[in-house]
Amino acid sequence: MPLWDLRSDTVTRPCAVMRKAMAEAVVGDDVYGEDPTILELEREGACRLGKEAALFAASGTMGNLLALLSHCGRGEGAVVGSRSHTYHHEAGGMAALGGIMPLVVDDAGGLPSVDGLLALCNDGRDVHAVKTTLLCLENTHNACGGRAFSPKAIAEICNVAHERDLSVHLDGARLFNAAVVFGVDAAQYGSLVDSVQVCLSKGLGAPVGSLLCGTEAFIGRARKWRKCLGGGMRQAGVLAAAGLVALRSRVDRLCEDHEKARRLEKVLREGGVSLMEVPDATNMVYFHLPSGSDEERFIAACRDEGVLVGIAGPGLVRAVAHLDVPAEVIDAVGKTLVEVVRSL
Ligand SMILES: Cc1ncc(COP(=O)(O)O)c(C=O)c1O
Repeated sequence: MPLWDLRSDTVTRPCAVMRKAMAEAVVGDDVYGEDPTILELEREGACRLGKEAALFAASGTMGNLLALLSHCGRGEGAVVGSRSHTYHHEAGGMAALGGIMPLVVDDAGGLPSVDGLLALCNDGRDVHAVKTTLLCLENTHNACGGRAFSPKAIAEICNVAHERDLSVHLDGARLFNAAVVFGVDAAQYGSLVDSVQVCLSKGLGAPVGSLLCGTEAFIGRARKWRKCLGGGMRQAGVLAAAGLVALRSRVDRLCEDHEKARRLEKVLREGGVSLMEVPDATNMVYFHLPSGSDEERFIAACRDEGVLVGIAGPGLVRAVAHLDVPAEVIDAVGKTLVEVVRSL
């Protein structure tokens, strides 16, 4: 029986085209700045995001951490969403490694409110105060159901931050999904923020890697931090080659993942499963289990039926559509999930 893995879009495996590109990549020592494939990916990434420069990082977590370390000094504050990936799922790197104080703002809707942000802005002139240096945003917002935000919505909150002399970093692990939903160029988002991190290894299907984009000066600082963290890789062009395939040929097809996710939602809804309603949804489907259900038991029962999904919270399950789950199996996957929910 095939096992359809919808736990995350990170589970995608490099396709034959990517593997060929990796095998044939021209490489050099990237710490010396001599890997032509890395340089090509960074140039192309910066251009796609409307920024001067880019840096290849091992992961989205590393890209976000490099941004935080490059924007904030020790003892300074970064405003992070209460549900954001950076705050919850990156092992506290900003505090552990940067001495950066997380200033937590409610982002239940996916973006902080203007009032929520303003309440945390402090210029640090008072000797008692933490200076607020940075605002971190997330688009699409993972824990908010994979919700996408338009450039207009992002611009509104960025303007408030910039008026208060904060820099803005965008965790755009799935920014291209948002760009596809709104039919805009990812560079439109890039132009609004001071730095942006995009993952190549999620819906775009590369095996490894993220790009952090910003000004030349900012990327210079991030490069130094990457070295400090041991993230300076050598013949990393083999990875960049897959990243280039991802960037060039996997962005436009993200709409197929969104269609599959909506199809899965339809099957679940028709089966009586309670869904998290998400405006401007992308490739994620969140649904609720009947109250009192044992989540671990549900996950195990789904696995027995050939479907992998993830627990996203108490009674909450996440299923993610991606390129390794074909459209033709979505109905069957949905029906399996419905049956297991009913059996609880
Ligand atoms: C919104 C968001 N940001 C950052 C990351 C971190 O990416 P990585 O797993 O490559 O470290 C993830 C991972 O799923 C994510 O969902």
